[in-house]
Amino acid sequence: MDLFDAIRRRKTTNGPFLPDPVSEEHQRLLMELAGRAPSQLNSQPWRFVLIENRDTIEKVADISGSSMTEAMSNGTFFERYKPYFRFSKEEMAQRRDGMLFDKLPAPLRPFTSQAFTPGGQKLMNSLRVPQTLGKENRKLVAGSPLLLGVMLDRSEYRPGELSSFYSIFSMGAAMENIWLATGALGMGIQFVSFPMEVPGRWAEIETLLQVPDELELMAVYRLGYLPEEQRRPAIDWSSHERKLPSQYVFSENCRTPRTGWDEASTSSP
Ligand SMILES: Cc1cc2nc3c(=O)[nH]c(=O)nc-3n(C[C@H](O)[C@H](O)[C@H](O)COP(=O)(O)O)c2cc1C
Repeated sequence: MDLFDAIRRRKTTNGPFLPDPVSEEHQRLLMELAGRAPSQLNSQPWRFVLIENRDTIEKVADISGSSMTEAMSNGTFFERYKPYFRFSKEEMAQRRDGMLFDKLPAPLRPFTSQAFTPGGQKLMNSLRVPQTLGKENRKLVAGSPLLLGVMLDRSEYRPGELSSFYSIFSMGAAMENIWLATGALGMGIQFVSFPMEVPGRWAEIETLLQVPDELELMAVYRLGYLPEEQRRPAIDWSSHERKLPSQYVFSENCRTPRTGWDEASTSSP
């Protein structure tokens, strides 16, 4: 897979992985490639923990699933992220960003327009959508052969100082190397982020992974090999759309959008 292809094909996996363990060589390769990322003054502030222990993965899955149910049923998740949710191809074609919920159980479809109203939240709770999503999320995480914890060295990552931006930027670059490499290895990757959405749940994962005081746990991912046929969860989204260059690129100054590239970008794979 050449580099440009790898970048264009990189995506988030929202479905199950094969139960097959991720080979030691692939784990070593992912960590080598992460370590090749740029960092301020080559400080390499990232640290990684690879988790294959079934008991630990099950516990993280419990925390993730119940956090999703809680964040979805108390409305905080929808309130926080509703600007990114799309329910029609037309809306997605017009906005070219966010998440298109293009797979929804039939009983839910008529109510998408009310999804973010108080009535909509009540309806979703009565249809037990938060529980369905939480259970599905728990199953996805528990079914993953590998979890990856990403941490930053607190001596580099000092919130409120320039170093915190530099460290987060470097961590993002390291993660992108991993994300791109998974595609070339027939693997998938997805954030396990719902424990961040519910107070106290992230701390449970930090304790589980025995994260020392000198490190800050910044993210957790689930990884694994992709099955031939990728089964989509009951409630699923796609987010392949991207803005046109004229919507995010300027020429010479920020008053002049870059034109003439939009067609080329819509025709690439
Ligand atoms: C900081 C950050 C947080 C994210 N959190 C989640 C998440 O909680 N769950 C998830 O499925 N994807 C998550 N993603 C993946 C994005 O949803 C995804 O990158 C975006 O929708 C574009 O889709 P793509 O990765 O398939 O190109 C996150 C991505 C970033 C950079």
